[in-house]
Amino acid sequence: MVAREDINKLIEATDMYALVSPYVKLIKSGSGYKGLCPFHNEKTPSFSVSQEKHLAHCFSCGKGGNPIQFLMDIKNISFMEAVKELAKINNMELNIDDPNAKIEEERKKYYDLNLLAYNLFTRNLFMTNEGKKALAYLEGRGLDEETIKTFGIGLAPKDGKMLYKLLKESNFLELDMVDVGLVKNVNDNYVDFFVNRIMFPIRNERGKIIGFSGRDYTGSSEAKYMNTIESPIFKKNLVLYNLDLAIPAISKNNRIILHEGYMDVIATYRSGLHEVVCSMGTALTTGQIKQISRFTKNVILSFDSDSAGIKATYRAAELFIKEGFNVNVLKIDKTKDSDEFVKKYGLKTYYDYFNSHITTFIDYVYNDIINNLNVNDIFNLENSKKNLFKYLNLYHSNIVLEKYLNLFSQKIGVSLNALLNDYNKLNNNLNYEPEPIISNIPKKNKEEIYLYELRIFEYAKISKNKALEIDSKLEKGNNFVGFKPINERLWQELMNYYNIYDEFNEEDFITLLQSKNLYDDYYHMIEDNEKYKEKLDLPYSEIDLEECLNKLVSNSNKNKLNNLQKTIVEQSDLELKKELTIKKFQMRKKYERN
Ligand code: CTP
Ligand code: MN
Repeated sequence: MVAREDINKLIEATDMYALVSPYVKLIKSGSGYKGLCPFHNEKTPSFSVSQEKHLAHCFSCGKGGNPIQFLMDIKNISFMEAVKELAKINNMELNIDDPNAKIEEERKKYYDLNLLAYNLFTRNLFMTNEGKKALAYLEGRGLDEETIKTFGIGLAPKDGKMLYKLLKESNFLELDMVDVGLVKNVNDNYVDFFVNRIMFPIRNERGKIIGFSGRDYTGSSEAKYMNTIESPIFKKNLVLYNLDLAIPAISKNNRIILHEGYMDVIATYRSGLHEVVCSMGTALTTGQIKQISRFTKNVILSFDSDSAGIKATYRAAELFIKEGFNVNVLKIDKTKDSDEFVKKYGLKTYYDYFNSHITTFIDYVYNDIINNLNVNDIFNLENSKKNLFKYLNLYHSNIVLEKYLNLFSQKIGVSLNALLNDYNKLNNNLNYEPEPIISNIPKKNKEEIYLYELRIFEYAKISKNKALEIDSKLEKGNNFVGFKPINERLWQELMNYYNIYDEFNEEDFITLLQSKNLYDDYYHMIEDNEKYKEKLDLPYSEIDLEECLNKLVSNSNKNKLNNLQKTIVEQSDLELKKELTIKKFQMRKKYERN
């Protein structure tokens, strides 16, 4: 808590003009200032600022107030956070007794570690030779220097120990470096977790760096992105990338735009749409939805146009609607994702496309249904109908229901009455689940590879020796490439497990996984074992193991070559293009030899 009189002093000491002007263009008006309200959209200014009264608020929507209230509203922070922020701005010392402050105090070392890493990464990108190549890559992807700086993009050094040494020199403990995910222990040596990757810092809503995501830009690694491990300050399932920079625009426009990837966020932010965020490639969680609902109840989903993106759209929309959100969709169908759209057609075209192509979720569903409709196929017709019912039910609205049933009845040439009858009949029996509108059969090759992965895990459970033998035959860091990249981490945990135990015991293994928040992944794997039971139920043998390993390694090589090819296309520097092409030929030769 803070004493009342300290708060008053704090308010008195505030220069209101200086506080507000970064957010609002102020013009002199009477004894104070006026401007367009940052909290709602308006054409005539109702936002008023008074230096003497120490007030900044909107006469129209009522937001804002004294400087603390203003900060709380504009940054969406708590009272205590606003008080602290204001004290900092005014250079005042405060006597604070705040329980949250203790937790933050304990976390401070982690934020400090990340900040040091961040400084190294950005210096490395802008001031070194290796940085030049990475900059050329970023430039090839359409990012200018200003954007790179806005998003704090950097480059993890090639030298895989540089960060560790720097942190050590700065007197940080190895324990903390490992906990925060910047350093890892390999055979009793401390090395950097991120090596030679383009680094995207991930900040929390208050702008503190909680973790990083590193993108491979040389095409030499199987994993396109590598993320910070779960840590005391980094919970991947709760991350909304770019939320801190997006908050002012979210408040102002009362909506949030949800993308699938970092590059989409960065590209579209540049078009002037600042209320953009994304999760980290993970399925949306209720925790993320709760966070968003503190700022707005209007969401625009703009995921990739591939089947995974479509599936994610349907899933996210359902969750949001159930939490009372108004859900709109921006369908990007000219390219794979928004980033590619911007690259191909430019910022202005994207911006206009965005504004003219947003639809309500139910219109999006309806269009999907119509586009996939085949009135001559009874199964298709019935399934389309069931899908329509399913999504209409989310709205609990007779108006919405009747409007779309009417449209549909005309489309298929059936009376509204008949449709309504079917609707009532089916709704009495809620156990039906239609086939997805766009069926999502996993790509055959990926599924096949995944089956090999599952088998390899089974082999590794036989004995420690078998597991170590398999590990030695797999290429480090590039093993598991089926459609669940998470298997890579489970494999590492299995190796860690065998470091402690000599025999595989499921319970002990699960305990170890639970301690690292990885149990869910393992659980999915067990589920998949059940799902693919028939296909996996083949005799296990040395020859079979050999074959599984070969398939995995050759698939990994193929993917590496594909990644390298993409990098070559993305690269704008001609010298580098040549260098990479030579590398590709050498790589291909090597793989063919094996
Ligand atoms: N992602 C990840 N790990 C991977 C692949 C993806 O964490 N191996 C996450 C990243 O947050 C990424 C998002 O999933 O931004 C979407 O993946 P994808 O569409 O494949 O990446 P893009 O954002 O399109 O990245 P890029 O354009 O650089 O290929
Ligand atoms: Mn992309």
